[in-house]
Amino acid sequence: MALRTGRAYDPATPLIDPGKCTLCGLCARICPGGVLDLEEQGVVVHQERQFGCVGCGHCATVCPAGAILVSGRDLEPGDVFDLPPAKDRATHAQLLALVQARRSVRHFSPEEVAREDVERILEAASTAPMGIPPTDVEVLVIHGRDKLRALAGEMIPALDRMCRIMRPPLFWLMRPFLNKMTAEAFRGFLAPVVDLYVKEWAQGRDVLFYDAPLGLYFHAASFADAADPMIAATYAMLAAESLGLGSCMLGFPGHALKRDRALGRKYGVPPQNHLGVFLVAGHPAVRHQRGVRRRFSRVVWSGEGI
Ligand SMILES: Cc1cc2nc3c(=O)[nH]c(=O)nc-3n(C[C@H](O)[C@H](O)[C@H](O)COP(=O)(O)O)c2cc1C
Repeated sequence: MALRTGRAYDPATPLIDPGKCTLCGLCARICPGGVLDLEEQGVVVHQERQFGCVGCGHCATVCPAGAILVSGRDLEPGDVFDLPPAKDRATHAQLLALVQARRSVRHFSPEEVAREDVERILEAASTAPMGIPPTDVEVLVIHGRDKLRALAGEMIPALDRMCRIMRPPLFWLMRPFLNKMTAEAFRGFLAPVVDLYVKEWAQGRDVLFYDAPLGLYFHAASFADAADPMIAATYAMLAAESLGLGSCMLGFPGHALKRDRALGRKYGVPPQNHLGVFLVAGHPAVRHQRGVRRRFSRVVWSGEGI
């Protein structure tokens, strides 16, 4: 069956062990797809409802008796594991300490990132909420400063070519077809930033990737939600911070992978995929001694006046 995805999947299969099941009905209550029912003969699976079992595994992870195994889609019975006791899980204070210490890092020490750390980042990022499983989020890993620098060397000319339309005289020819905001974004932001990449690259400096030793590009097929790769990248950013690595989220390089077909093909990024986001990471050259308080643009509590 197709389910918000271009790929076809059979439903997953929840297997309930009648010898262990205590008929508490918790699995049926929490199943997000409404696929499980507590009936006279025990828990019954109704694959005909909604999308059938999507293999989220909630039934297996809440079952007090450990009576449920789920197989299929992206889940195997061995994927369910015990969590540490509540007292050993991160507290709000610990989370705040992590997120408040994180700042975007654009200066990296010469040290490379260990492969185990890349794997730890991916392990944490893969826990992000990324739509109905299996996720369509893909990650392109550019591990090693030389590799990322080589990619910068391909992307900067590609971005420069794309920007030709933003520069006179082409810009003035195109101007009647651009709305005011797009024209201003081109002239006031995109073109000057790409000009900077080109100018600095000519001097041997990479201000696209900041000469980082690791780049992770999170992207997803067009039938996924465009937010999914962004959320995964955010988790990756926090994972990097927890490992003592600095990181920075970057929007520009994704445009080169999406719009330059040859480059996208070379790096396995289909042109129809949503524009994704890059995360560069490495050992920070500078440590922040203080945090700064941040605010949302606006927080509105419904019922308390707007
Ligand atoms: C989607 C997205 C794209 C971004 N693109 C870039 C970029 O291409 N280059 C850059 O230097 N910063 C970029 N930023 C900004 C930084 O990642 C960061 O959010 C900003 O500098 C705020 O700093 P802080 O993280 O220390 O609060 C981007 C941020 C986001 C969320």
